[in-house]
Amino acid sequence: MTQSPVRTEVLAALSDARLTVPEPDGGGPMAQFRRSVSRFSNGDRHAARRDEAVRALRPVDTGALRAAVRARLAAAPGHTDLMPALRTVPVAVLAEALGVPAGRSAEVAGLVAVIAPAYPPGAPPAATAAADDAVPELERLLGARTATLGCLLVQACEATAGLIAACLVLRTTPEEALRLDPPVRATARLTPDGTRVVLDLAAAGLPFGAGRRPCPGEEIALALAAGAAEALADRPVLDVAYGPDGPLRVPARLVIAQGRGRNIVGGHDDRCGTRQAG
Ligand code: HEM
Repeated sequence: MTQSPVRTEVLAALSDARLTVPEPDGGGPMAQFRRSVSRFSNGDRHAARRDEAVRALRPVDTGALRAAVRARLAAAPGHTDLMPALRTVPVAVLAEALGVPAGRSAEVAGLVAVIAPAYPPGAPPAATAAADDAVPELERLLGARTATLGCLLVQACEATAGLIAACLVLRTTPEEALRLDPPVRATARLTPDGTRVVLDLAAAGLPFGAGRRPCPGEEIALALAAGAAEALADRPVLDVAYGPDGPLRVPARLVIAQGRGRNIVGGHDDRCGTRQAG
């Protein structure tokens, strides 16, 4: 099969050493946190931080993650917004796998869910203000591991929640949901003269990126999403609402039934809108 031109172009850009990720500016705890992580660093600093993240993930048992998420979401309540649970339960399970004590993982996951909306470039000021309060709390809980674990958990939070939501709405596996409705739609790079280029990962069919900085959490994301999809497979989606289009596609709200049955909403055409159960 020949590669589509957009895939070839995006792959070339992701592999091009001259292109960099935009580095965070500004002050405050959230800006400092963003400056400390692999995701927003370049050059040697990126190599070292990425290495540390990959090393932290190596011992994680994906089968155990999958079973833990399945067990914790099996009794998820219906007729209420499921997104807070999808943003926090997989993160708490991952935090424990990375060595956070079980008694602290829910608090860590709650803070991560506050920090995640302020993590992408250009986040709204209200999200950054809330994250400025949450970052010192996360530092209190994670200590010297804040940059590495914080980066992994924050990276996991929204994208994994979006993938689980897509599995439920489309009633399909994580692999298929990534093909039909990937949660990370785009990323950005800077050319040497400072021009910002947006790379359309969704159109390129590269949901986890590629090239010089592919997602190191792919297998973990698939395991977390598979566990959640297994737990909630027969729970019909009653309502789903997406916010405005952006680099991430994660519902603002998702409501499932209490009991089992067929989906009421769903399908790939339900983009950016709300559909209520009839
Ligand atoms: C469905 C879930 C996920 C998707 C679709 C996803 C997608 C991506 C993509 C596209 C990138 C590259 C961004 C770029 O090149 O600019 C990335 C980077 C990253 N992801 Fe994921 N991700 C997911 C879940 C996770 C999870 C669960 C973890 C942690 C276990 C994780 C950790 C990271 C890290 C640390 C980076 C930065 C890598 C670096 O700095 O080189 N991601 N992810």
